[in-house]
Amino acid sequence: MTSNGSTANGALVKDAAPQDEKPIVELRGAGKSYGNIRALHGVTLSVQPGRVTCVLGDNGAGKSTLIKIISGLHQHTEGEFLVDGEPVRFSTPREALDKGIATVYQDLAVVPLMPVWRNFFLGSEMTSGPWPVRRLDIARMKKTADEELRAMGIVLDDLEQPIGTLSGGQRQSVAIARAVYFGARVLILDEPTAALGVKQSGVVLKYIAAARDRGLGVIFITHNPHHAYMVGDYFSVLRLGTMELSADRSQVSLEELTNHMAGGAELAALKHELAEVRGVDVEELPEEQDLKAPVVTSEGTAS
Ligand SMILES: Nc1ncnc2c1ncn2[C@@H]1O[C@H](COP(=O)(O)OP(=O)(O)OP(=O)(O)O)[C@@H](O)[C@H]1O
Ligand SMILES: [Mg+2]
Repeated sequence: MTSNGSTANGALVKDAAPQDEKPIVELRGAGKSYGNIRALHGVTLSVQPGRVTCVLGDNGAGKSTLIKIISGLHQHTEGEFLVDGEPVRFSTPREALDKGIATVYQDLAVVPLMPVWRNFFLGSEMTSGPWPVRRLDIARMKKTADEELRAMGIVLDDLEQPIGTLSGGQRQSVAIARAVYFGARVLILDEPTAALGVKQSGVVLKYIAAARDRGLGVIFITHNPHHAYMVGDYFSVLRLGTMELSADRSQVSLEELTNHMAGGAELAALKHELAEVRGVDVEELPEEQDLKAPVVTSEGTAS
């Protein structure tokens, strides 16, 4: 695909993927059906090292289905999925991980009462000594966890504190540092900021940028165009399982992105219908912006 154009299914494709770096992960017209339900269709996406690819979309748009394909939980039923240019079809998340594709889910798989350093190495503990007297190498794990967290700019007072006592943003950050340490090349983050406040979201966005600066290809799933625009290099908007927009940062403004997310065209159509029903001129109705966010007053919702 070259400059402004559209794909077979009508997605607005504003820019070709840059040719300088080879993509690690690539989807070409990929899709997934669950029996009769077509959850995803005709998705083309490429993930490059040192770039953040944002996938936006409303509830049910197919975001989780997309990352489940890439992370090896589900298999695509149409199109192509390539890693390092080779077609792949993962049967388990382990296979994805072996290719360096790590996923951080929103409900992080941590043991809340265990110390931070212990969670950092959970399932891949360092040991010392010959078998059968092999023991956990606690000193080395603590030191490494400390170094790795610092290298990402994450400063925690005490790695002995149970991970459950950290804030949501800090826990996400530890999970990101962990994936980097264990050799991830592609980091998938499924709505890491969805449950977080403004400040905590900022913390997570900072570490997304840090992972990118360390050369990882990041797939950042979010509902929030503002969060996406703060760190994103490339943007894909999904709607009802198909890709509605696919654009490089230089090709799309935050305003456009927000409009695509909010369904600007749908709102405009709705406005015309409303005008017809009420028998008034379209101009007499409030602006689309006002339709998107009803003003809530102490007496209730004002139109
Ligand atoms: N296992 C499944 N079996 C049948 N249908 C499914 C399954 N998983 C997802 N779907 C359907 O596929 C569509 C896309 O779902 P998906 O979970 O990928 O959306 P999403 O963008 O992640 O939404 P959300 O923002 O709510 O997490 C939805 O219509 C959903 O009902
Ligand atoms: Mg989802």
